[in-house]
Amino acid sequence: MQRHNLVPQEELLKSTQAAKRLHDDILSRGLTFYIESYGCQMNDHDAEKLAGMLQSCGYQKATEKFEADLILFNTCCVREHAELRVFGNIGALKKLKDEKPQLMIGVCGCMMQQEDVAQKLFKRFPFVDLVFGTHELYRFPVLLEAALNGERTFSVTQIDGEIAEGLPVERNGRFQTNVTIMYGCDNFCSYCIVPYVRGRERSRASSDILGEIESLAQAGFKEITLLGQNVNSYRGDGGETSFAKLLCMANEVKGIERLRFMTSHPKDLSMELIHAMAECSKVCSHIHLPVQSGSDRILKRMNRGYTREKYLGLVNTLRENIKGIELTTDIIVGFPGETEEDFSDTLSLVREANFSAAYTFMYSPRNGTSAARMEEQIDKVVKKERLARLNELQAELLKKSNEKFLCMEGTVLVEGCDTRAVPMAYGKLENFKMVYFPGDETLLGQLKRVRITKTQSNSLFGEALE
Ligand code: SAH
Ligand code: SF4
Ligand code: F3S
Repeated sequence: MQRHNLVPQEELLKSTQAAKRLHDDILSRGLTFYIESYGCQMNDHDAEKLAGMLQSCGYQKATEKFEADLILFNTCCVREHAELRVFGNIGALKKLKDEKPQLMIGVCGCMMQQEDVAQKLFKRFPFVDLVFGTHELYRFPVLLEAALNGERTFSVTQIDGEIAEGLPVERNGRFQTNVTIMYGCDNFCSYCIVPYVRGRERSRASSDILGEIESLAQAGFKEITLLGQNVNSYRGDGGETSFAKLLCMANEVKGIERLRFMTSHPKDLSMELIHAMAECSKVCSHIHLPVQSGSDRILKRMNRGYTREKYLGLVNTLRENIKGIELTTDIIVGFPGETEEDFSDTLSLVREANFSAAYTFMYSPRNGTSAARMEEQIDKVVKKERLARLNELQAELLKKSNEKFLCMEGTVLVEGCDTRAVPMAYGKLENFKMVYFPGDETLLGQLKRVRITKTQSNSLFGEALE
């Protein structure tokens, strides 16, 4: 069995021991932490691990950022905007640190894995106590102990990446949660920084994943989302276990009612997986399948490994095989060299594919990626204008396509309740559509049958069925 990517036990032990040394003192002083997380679900899940490790060090969760004794920024660098926000928000803490010198400030996550950016930040903000990269996550208690002892700590290593099993996790949800099945990415889409900051693709052993899902089921979780930058290329157990196989195994875990996964790369979406989705009763009728562009010329320059025709073919196959499936996607506008004609290919693909949600972005050049070095960078004004046109089209299509849900019946996992006026419970249908219906907090965590009674551009409203 392929286990060579595992962080050695003795390394993990160093963290556990550092946490133990810190625990009693920190707990007795009632110290609190606050984590500000940016970026994708992978980062959110890392934040849950960081919170778990902080609790093992004796810290408690603060309700207010500015009251915490330790503030940790878990950063993202996928687009420029994310980076600027981090620099701004850290800079704003200087005054607080002057007033409260014992405040600890740490910065970690993808942006810190870019060593030059991390060093710039460490220099620019001398009041930051601790900086570490994505590959150092499991060492957090060790690094924190050094910082608490007064050593300004900087730890960013350039390795391909390892897997740390068994870290403590403090989960945000009570009924729905995420389980990482693989780390890193090998696809090197020409615009994307992720492979540089998350390391090479590496899959967890299926036994570790299933063990985690089983204990989550015992803790009362009903819905699991399997996470990875590209779950379709999951290869566990020395290549023995495909993602489709893993999904079928997860489908057997008692107590779990629903399974989702993200993200899927179109080039690796196999017939085996489509069949598994159709056959496994707990796998929800939704797939997030980022298309990025509708133009073959641009897809090639993006190094995506599929054509428009292949993508639309997959959409059809998914719809033919999986009853009621809804698709969501990611789209980039203004990629270098994108002409008006390329962009109109994106618009026409959006019309043809009929997505139930599209996350749309202006291309943002990322240092070190090949697209950032391409000529024909597109003017910001053009990017903005294309983004607005794309969003307008998607909103218009959505309004129309939502109408088809009227009178439909489905099951909602109740995830919250809005009590401002009439109590309204809400949660997602199998197809990832959010539904609001009259109901109160007693429904939290329950699976409820509903019928859709009203549709709006962004939301569906319904009534509970007995
Ligand atoms: N692994 C996932 C998600 C990666 S990041 C996938 O392959 O789908 C999430 C989204 O951010 C991407 O799908 C892409 O649409 C967008 N994105 C990534 N890099 C970008 C960049 N440089 N500029 C603009 N958008 C980008
Ligand atoms: Fe980035 Fe492409 Fe990997 Fe997704 S598949 S993380 S877009 S390189
Ligand atoms: Fe951002 Fe890192 Fe996720 S760059 S999108 S937080 S993998």
